[in-house]
Amino acid sequence: MTLPTDRRSVFHHLPPDHVGRSLRADVLAGLTASPKTLPSKWFYDERGSGLFEQITELPEYYPTRAEREVLELFAEEIAAASPAEILIELGSGSSRKTPLLLDALKAAGSLRRYVAVDVSESALLDAGNALAPAFPDLELHAVTADFETQLHLLPRQGHRMVAFLGGTIGNFEPAARARFLADIHELLGSAGGSLLLGTDLVKSPRVLVPAYADADGVTADFNRNVLRVLNTELGADFDVEAFEHVAVWRPREEWIEMRLRASRPMRVHLPGVNLDIRFHDGEELRTEISAKFRVGGVAEELQGAGFSVLGQWTDRQNRYALTLADAM
Ligand code: SAH
Ligand code: AVI
Repeated sequence: MTLPTDRRSVFHHLPPDHVGRSLRADVLAGLTASPKTLPSKWFYDERGSGLFEQITELPEYYPTRAEREVLELFAEEIAAASPAEILIELGSGSSRKTPLLLDALKAAGSLRRYVAVDVSESALLDAGNALAPAFPDLELHAVTADFETQLHLLPRQGHRMVAFLGGTIGNFEPAARARFLADIHELLGSAGGSLLLGTDLVKSPRVLVPAYADADGVTADFNRNVLRVLNTELGADFDVEAFEHVAVWRPREEWIEMRLRASRPMRVHLPGVNLDIRFHDGEELRTEISAKFRVGGVAEELQGAGFSVLGQWTDRQNRYALTLADAM
C-alpha cells in the first residue's frame, strides 16, 4: 500500500464495521428470502476485484473493450460537451479506461480533480498508484464509499461530471436504478454538472451468455467468490466448490442473471448472523442481474430522473453506449 502524497488523498467513508453490519443485514434478508439472493456488491473483496479485472480481458467479455472503443472515438466530443472541473467516477475499480476521459477533460481546459469512489479499497489504491505518475498536476482523491447510500459525501460544488462506467448501472434492479439516477441528479443539481453513463446494449444471447459463462471458468470463480466472502466475514461454512455457476438470459426483463446452483442438498451454518440455512439439490441462489439496454430506453430513464440528454455514442458494432446527460 502506498500512502497519499502531495496532491493525492484517500478518504475512508465506509464505517469501520461496514462489512460486518451492512453485509449481515444483506445476508439475513437475502438468504432467508425465497428464492435466495445476495447483492452483487459483495463480490468485490481483493480477490473479487482481481477476478473482475481478469474477466475484462476474456475474449468472451466484450463490454470493457467496447466501452474503451467508445471513449477512444468520442472522449473529446464528450469533454467538449461538458468541460468539468471535477470528474467523480462511481464504482471506478481499476480506473483503466479513465485516462481517456481525463486526457480529454484536461484538453478541454478545466479539469483539476479526479474523485474515484469504490467499496474496494485495494482497487482504489492500485488505481491511484497507476494514475498518479501520468497525471502529476491533477488532484487525485480516492474515496472508499458505498455509492448506493453515501452519494451525499461527494463534492457538491463546481462543475462536476459523474461517470458511471462499465455497465454497472445494469446491476441495479429497475426500481433501485430509477432511485439511483434521481439521487445522482440531486447531487448534481445544486451547482450543475453532467452524468456520463455506460450501458451494455441488448444483443443476441449467443453473444451475451458466453460473456457471463466463459470457457476458462473465470466468471464462475468470480461468482463463487461471494460465498468465500461470507465464509471469511461471517465464519460461514459454504462448500464453495459444491455450487455450480449459472448464467441465463431473461428475455422479458432483458437481463443476464447469474446464479449459484447447489449440486447436492446442503446445510450451511453462518455464525456471524446466527443463521442455519438449507439448500435442496439444484436450488439456485441469485447473485447478480446485469441488465442490457436500448439507447432510447436509456435516454427515457435519464429524462425521467430529471436529466436532459446531451449526446449518445456507441462503438462501431453497436454493442455498448455512453450517454451524456445534463442535470440542469
Ligand atoms: N468501472 C470499472 C469497474 C466495474 S466493476 C470498469 O468499468 O471496469 C464494478 C465496480 O463497482 C467494482 O470495482 C466494485 O467494487 C464497485 N462497486 C460495486 N458496488 C458498489 C457500491 N455499492 N458502492 C461503491 N462501489 C461499488
Ligand atoms: C460490474 N458489472 C457491470 C459486471 C457486469 O457485466 O454486470 C460484473 C460482471 N459480472 C459477471 N461478469 C462481470
